[in-house]
Amino acid sequence: MNRLEGKWVLVTGASSGIGEGCAKRFAASGSNLVLVARREERLNELKRTLVDDHRIDVRAYALDVRNRGAVGVFSKWLADHITAPDVLINNAGLASGLEKFFEGDFEDWDKMIDTNVKGLLNVTRHVVPLMVSQNRGHIINIGSIAGHMVYPGGNVYNATKFATRALNQAMAIDLVGTNLRVSSIDPGAAETEFSKVRFHGDENKVKEVYRGFRPLTGDDVAEAVHFVANAPEHVNVLDLVIMPTAQRNPYVLHREEG
Ligand SMILES: NC(=O)c1ccc[n+]([C@@H]2O[C@H](COP(=O)([O-])OP(=O)(O)OC[C@H]3O[C@@H](n4cnc5c(N)ncnc54)[C@H](OP(=O)(O)O)[C@@H]3O)[C@@H](O)[C@H]2O)c1
Repeated sequence: MNRLEGKWVLVTGASSGIGEGCAKRFAASGSNLVLVARREERLNELKRTLVDDHRIDVRAYALDVRNRGAVGVFSKWLADHITAPDVLINNAGLASGLEKFFEGDFEDWDKMIDTNVKGLLNVTRHVVPLMVSQNRGHIINIGSIAGHMVYPGGNVYNATKFATRALNQAMAIDLVGTNLRVSSIDPGAAETEFSKVRFHGDENKVKEVYRGFRPLTGDDVAEAVHFVANAPEHVNVLDLVIMPTAQRNPYVLHREEG
């Protein structure tokens, strides 16, 4: 049963990977979309394809979620044009670097904390009041298995994803008694632009991450997000962990040699 047709779905980080996968998956269910990321041209291209293929309403909005003022302006635009989204997918995020913490780069740390924690809070603080005023909606936070278990060199990225998990629980608690639902989708290794960003474009390191096993794709994760969003209104999935079959946690990963 499709409960998402005609619903408004807001996706942050829609220009690539999991966010782009979500845009496509919800479009296929006839949802209307607000696509947010910094790379406007990519958003516009995705918008053109989705409108052509699905005849839905798609708005592309260039936004850096780290810019609190700009997020405030965006939320006013949202209130004027959409009222409130039915689904908010807090997906924009990144890892930057994989050094030991005592050799870590301050700029990398700022990028991760400002995007994954403060950016997610900026969007949620500005957009969720619109949903609360309608007493309906679903917040879906993209966490990670990095928010369940720390791995070598993960330090600050792990900390941001532990924070995302805590915030997911906090949002669920603070919204009790409303009709809003709160869910976290926590993926393991997914082949997106994630590793390219983490390793600052070093293709050899990127290749090594996905060597010898079949990782998730952005579309695989999007399918889980869609499943959770499409559940009946009285059903709330608090946390869903999804990994490639070859992976069982950040350490236990089977690679075929050769
Ligand atoms: N891939 C994995 O293995 C994996 C595993 C677990 C969790 N995750 C999480 O999944 C989420 C999506 O990552 P992905 O794997 O799909 O990586 P990706 O392909 O690099 O996509 C990241 C998205 O976030 C957007 N973004 C980054 N910084 C932003 C900012 N300041 N403002 C607005 N948008 C911003 C990027 O768009 P612009 O650059 O155009 O702004 C892009 O659309 C992240 O939260 C990540 O931590 C990924």
